[in-house]
Amino acid sequence: MKTALVFGGGGFIGGHLAKRLKDENFWVRIVDIKPAHEFWSHDDICDEYVPGDLRDPKIVENVFEAPGDKPFDEVYQLAADMGGAGYIFTGDNDANVMHNSALINLNTVYEAAKRKVGRVFYSSSACMYPEHNQLDPDNPNCEESSAYPANPDSEYGWEKLFSERLFLAFNRNYKLNVRVARFHNIFGPMGTWAGGKEKAPAAMCRKAAETPEDGTLEVWGSGKQTRSFLHVTECVEAVLRFMRQDQFMGPVNIGSEEMVTINQLAQMAIDLSGKNITIHNIQGEEFIEKYGFRCPVGVQGRNSDNKLYAEKMGWQVSRPLIEGMRDTYVWINEQVKLAKENTTAE
Ligand code: NAD
Ligand code: GDD
Repeated sequence: MKTALVFGGGGFIGGHLAKRLKDENFWVRIVDIKPAHEFWSHDDICDEYVPGDLRDPKIVENVFEAPGDKPFDEVYQLAADMGGAGYIFTGDNDANVMHNSALINLNTVYEAAKRKVGRVFYSSSACMYPEHNQLDPDNPNCEESSAYPANPDSEYGWEKLFSERLFLAFNRNYKLNVRVARFHNIFGPMGTWAGGKEKAPAAMCRKAAETPEDGTLEVWGSGKQTRSFLHVTECVEAVLRFMRQDQFMGPVNIGSEEMVTINQLAQMAIDLSGKNITIHNIQGEEFIEKYGFRCPVGVQGRNSDNKLYAEKMGWQVSRPLIEGMRDTYVWINEQVKLAKENTTAE
């Protein structure tokens, strides 16, 4: 039986990935600082769920101990201190994001090399791309080769860039078999949908679900900024295909090329709600007055560039955004109802 170690498996992408590995009959160990996964039952996603802080090198050393005393076949490093624009662009979390995620990556890569694991996947982010190539909402450049000269617009992006280099250095110096991918805004059910760390697709679905008929839905910024969003099931498929080939180690983009404005994304969520809701774009002084900090917009434009992945892998993602938004809206609408019922019962 093959074995896999999933760091951050208590989170969104890690939960889906662990489920897929379990379905493929892997023996799966999840390690996460959360005591339990919020949405999955552990039997569905792993054989062992270890609550643990990966900033602690002792814990990392222990969890690399594989069953049968053989090194893990596959290691997935998805644990990070992260969130959407409302978390990484306010400035308040910069020190923690850099410190926490860098420690996790330093511990992981060191132990993976020491234990001679089969291979290790590192999840970087599109946030490492230079801001100056993402100023035009209609024409962003996120080709892998455009990464340098580096100029990410967030400390989260700088840490990702550092850790990409860290994993690649361990490949060069210690022959660690690494795979590095840059995720572009991954969304879907069983992920953060409230609380401040949620990303735009989840936020739009939640707001549309909560807004009454003839109400107003708030969208941060002009609404003209662009992004692309990849459904988590296709993300997992792309990760596994990339992980299990021997042609190249990345970095490579994993994302969708279906670029939309954030107002278009919001309108999709509104249409799925079936309600008559008006978009209100909140920015500038109005935003500061209401929330006490600058509107966290991030880059003006971003789109995945999938040429390299398609060329190397002979496969590419294809699921339309609206399809993914449909199942995300259904799930979030359900969460909103459950949360309301729980508040009423208290
Ligand atoms: P997530 O927040 O749902 O999952 C990350 C998990 O890491 C969480 O469960 C968290 O508890 C865990 N974690 C954080 N600190 C830890 C610690 N000290 N010890 C152990 N566990 C710890 O995020 P996600 O959306 O599933 O993202 C997974 C990875 O992909 C992250 O590295 C993230 O930066 C990267 N990424 C995600 C996206 C996206 O759109 N979701 C985009 C780009 C990159
Ligand atoms: N989160 C959120 N919530 N964003 C909103 C909202 C809202 O209610 N309204 C408008 N937006 C806008 C943000 O201001 C931003 O311009 C855009 O929607 C996208 O926001 P997010 O989805 O939160 O983040 P991002 O695309 O800027 O960055 C995300 O993707 C990266 C990879 O592409 C983050 O999740 C990063 O952590 C990730 O690495």
